[in-house]
Formats: sequence, C-alpha cells, structure tokens
Amino acid sequence: MAFRNLSSRDRDGVRTLTIERPDKLNALNRETIGELAIAFTQARHDDAVRAVVLAGSGEKAFVAGADIAELTAMSPVQAQAFSRAGQQMMRGIETLGKPVVARIQGFALGGGLELAMSCHLRIGSEKAKLGLPEITLGLLPGFAGTQRIARLAGRAAALELALLGKPVDAARAHALGLLTRVVAPEALDAEVEAVASQLAASAPHALAGILDAIVLGGEAAFEQGADYESKAFAVCFSTADMREGTAAFLERRKPVFTGA
Ligand code: COA
Repeated sequence: MAFRNLSSRDRDGVRTLTIERPDKLNALNRETIGELAIAFTQARHDDAVRAVVLAGSGEKAFVAGADIAELTAMSPVQAQAFSRAGQQMMRGIETLGKPVVARIQGFALGGGLELAMSCHLRIGSEKAKLGLPEITLGLLPGFAGTQRIARLAGRAAALELALLGKPVDAARAHALGLLTRVVAPEALDAEVEAVASQLAASAPHALAGILDAIVLGGEAAFEQGADYESKAFAVCFSTADMREGTAAFLERRKPVFTGA
C-alpha cells in the first residue's frame, strides 16, 4: 500500500519507515498516525522484517509533535479519538515483538518524544533536542507520554519536563535514558544502520522474548515478569536458532540465525 506521509525501504531484514512531512517538521496529523498504525501492522506480520528503524525526513526534526494546526480545531470528542489513535499506534510499536530503533537527528518534541519513547532504542545526534512542550500550548501529552516518561526517566524528571515544557539537549536526554546512544551528526546513519543490522541478524524468537520480558514483564508484578521470562526462555529451546547459536559457540564459529 502506498502511503502519503510515510516512505518504506527494506534492506537485509531491516525495514526503515520515514515520516515524510519535512515542511511541517514531520508533525503527526491524523493521517500520519493512521499510516504509521498500518505500516507497523504490516511489519509485525512480515517474517522478512526482523527489525524496524523509525525516522523523520529532513535535517531538523524527527517529529516536532502532534499537528498543532489540526489540534486547534478539535472538539473534545475528536481530541479523545485522536489521543486514543496515537496511544494505540504507539502501543503497537512498543508491543511489536520486533525491535524498533528511533533515529533522532533533531527535534523530538511532544508527540515526537512520545513516539520515540514507544520505540525500544533511541539513537540521537548530538544536535537532538527532546521535550514535552505541550504545557506551553495549554495542553498536556496525549499519547501516553506522561506514563512512558515517568517509567523511562523517573518521576522527578518527568514532572520537570512536562510541567515546565523546556526541551533538553542530547547529553541530558542520554543521562535521563530518553536517548539510548548519542553520536556526532555525521555518524548517525552509520550507527543506526549498525545497530539495526545487528538486531536483524539476531535470533528473532530470542529478541521477541527479551521484548516481552522487559516491556510487558516490566509493567507487571515481579513474579509475573519472571514468568514471562521463563516461558520465553523455554520457547527458545524449540528453535533451530538456539541450537545454531550454542553449537556455533562450541565450534568457535559465527552463528547464522534464520528465524527457524
Ligand atoms: N504542528 C504543526 N506544524 C508544525 C509543528 C507542529 N507540532 N511544528 C512545526 N510545525 C510547522 C511550522 O508551523 C512551520 O510551518 P510553516 O512553514 O507552514 O509556517 C514549519 O513546521 C517549520 O516550523 P518553524 O516553527 O518555522 O521552525 P523553527 O525552526 O523556527 O522552530 C520548533 C522549530 C520545533 C522549535 C517549532 O516548530 C516548534 O516549537 N514546534 C512545535 C513544538 C510543539 O509544541 N510540539 C508539541 C505539539 S503538541
């Protein structure tokens, strides 16, 4: 399916989805949220896709937030539907069962930071700026950002960022866990590609188990999380990839994981 606001490229098991609204700093309007939901559903069901990179087009922004021009005209009922659509799409990313890497070259503000936080890894340029400026619009985050930022960065930083609305630079974002890696701008693409390629070459059932245990298990009571882990651990023993990985270690060679 052709998208109006997204481009998609596949290479060696990595699907790169790029939001293509550079003149609006890739702001998330309803249509883009709908297209992202479809694109991630397709990625979920395509066995050839082993990892996803999510990017924003242009030099300036990953995503500069929800589309303020759309927000300004919404009724409360429409706002709730918009919020829920964004929340569901981002939950779909978080629970994709495949690793998703956000490439953050510039602004990740409001809905852009919320989108990035639903990804599993966030690699940023030293020029990145992250924040929750909704308060400056008389608003608050609506795509579950209040929940994710408190879990990722802690309650004190979550309150600071959301209450005051001031973006932080890449170094501070890294210290808070909002960026998982920071690199020089010219090194960003190579770093994202190296990480995504490593993920795409890894054993998919083991990756899915790690995501379930850490993402879903982390939201549950300890015993339940440990149970997710145990079950995912056991599932790996039904895979050819686990036999390959352990045999390759013993035979002192590089493993080749096929997803079987
Ligand atoms: N929604 C809709 N349009 C947006 C947008 C958003 N969140 N963010 C940027 N744009 C648009 C601008 O309106 C402008 O469009 P125009 O050229 O048709 O007027 C274009 O993108 C470029 O943005 P501009 O503000 O001119 O760039 P800048 O470099 O001066 O500033 C930002 C960059 C990110 C600081 C600024 O765009 C900004 O503050 N954006 C809103 C951030 C925000 O509050 N996000 C939370 C939304 S809930």
